[in-house]
Amino acid sequence: MAKSDVYQSISALAPDALQKIIDRLEFRGKDPIFAAMRDAYLDRMDLGSCARVLDLGCGSGVATRALAARADFKGEIVGIDLSEALIAAAKGFASDEGLSDRIEFRTGDCLNLEDADDSYDAVITHTLISHVSDPGGLIASAARVLKQGSPMAMFDGDYA
Ligand SMILES: C[S@@+](CC[C@H](N)C(=O)[O-])C[C@H]1O[C@@H](n2cnc3c(N)ncnc32)[C@H](O)[C@@H]1O
Repeated sequence: MAKSDVYQSISALAPDALQKIIDRLEFRGKDPIFAAMRDAYLDRMDLGSCARVLDLGCGSGVATRALAARADFKGEIVGIDLSEALIAAAKGFASDEGLSDRIEFRTGDCLNLEDADDSYDAVITHTLISHVSDPGGLIASAARVLKQGSPMAMFDGDYA
């Protein structure tokens, strides 16, 4: 993680800065190369057998919506993010795309999840792990709520 990572202090950002982040995440989510990388790992997760999937650090819900829209996935998704503003945006985008009935978005800290042990059939984190203060804690937290033997996908890149 960079010494000053904007996502660590996201709750303190002004509305115009938050809007720029939302715009940037949505723009990036539509990039064909970026979308292909996302689809490549989702393709490998046997989503047809998953009833409940967790998207940690979901932001404005780019990966959450991509997952909900897939033909091979009929389950439900929970998207969790630190930022109330990003969660509000995520709810709006999902509603606009008719996906709200399959997605529950809520604020929360991925390092301190309130979800029960073994409560998800899959967990994804899309460009989150490089932004958290405790990457090992993120993996442990995700593993705790994941059913044994179920898939966890952690996607990130070294954009620096
Ligand atoms: C680079 S953005 C990725 C957002 C989204 N997954 C995407 O790819 O469009 C990282 C996200 O992680 C969230 N985040 C950072 N630390 C977090 C934490 N401890 N718990 C939950 N979310 C966190 C930020 O608020 C931000 O929305």
